[in-house]
Amino acid sequence: MAKNAGYHWDDRFDRIVTLLDGRRVRLRWIRPTDASLLREGFARLSETSRRNRFFIALKELPDHVVRYFTDVDGVDHAALVALSVPEKGLAEQGLGVARFVRSKDEPLTAEVAVTVVDEVQRLGLGTLLLGTLAAAASERNVEAFTANVLWSNSNVRFWLLGLGAEQWHRLGDAVVCSLGTSLLANRAAERSRIAA
Ligand SMILES: CC(C)(COP(=O)(O)OP(=O)(O)OC[C@H]1O[C@@H](n2cnc3c(N)ncnc32)[C@H](O)[C@@H]1OP(=O)(O)O)[C@@H](O)C(=O)NCCC(=O)NCCS
Repeated sequence: MAKNAGYHWDDRFDRIVTLLDGRRVRLRWIRPTDASLLREGFARLSETSRRNRFFIALKELPDHVVRYFTDVDGVDHAALVALSVPEKGLAEQGLGVARFVRSKDEPLTAEVAVTVVDEVQRLGLGTLLLGTLAAAASERNVEAFTANVLWSNSNVRFWLLGLGAEQWHRLGDAVVCSLGTSLLANRAAERSRIAA
């Protein structure tokens, strides 16, 4: 991630936060060595969460997708991961990931996606991941995120609306919206019930 040097949220970003149920979670940038954590976290997602994230009921992540998801430059493609902070003897687990991929045609925009494993949803992690990613994206000259959401995923549509999403377009079973990264970072920080 050499391109990532010199930013406030650079490779050294590594923070422990406490979710609403008291569990401690580590946030840091993804690394190429996170392949097994990613596969294993994906395996713990419910069918609904997989469909809401990938729009199809994927059984597992293909190797080339895992490589693409973990080997990122941190500027044009960046991903924050949330990991469990295990008790002694237990293995670290992947709990969430938020990523953006900059558009080649419109480099001031990037597509965003966020996933939190079902067992820790509704504990504030999604908002924290998305807000932190937006702040880092803004620093990297990404002015707006586009997000693709299944129309049936109404919880997420309303969540993004509350975080400033606009310019909604229907696209088959999905909707695409736009989120200004500075506004998103501010709104997420205001709404977050987790001390970052
Ligand atoms: C979307 C997602 C990342 C949210 O993560 P999270 O850790 O639950 O997020 P938060 O705890 O910060 O909650 C965010 C808001 O989402 C909404 N929400 C999420 N799940 C909900 C549910 N099952 N029912 C009602 N509201 C829900 C709520 O508005 C919630 O805010 P609140 O807790 O203040 O009411 C998570 O639900 C997920 O991974 N879903 C599957 C993948 C997906 O849909 N990704 C989005 C498309 S890219």
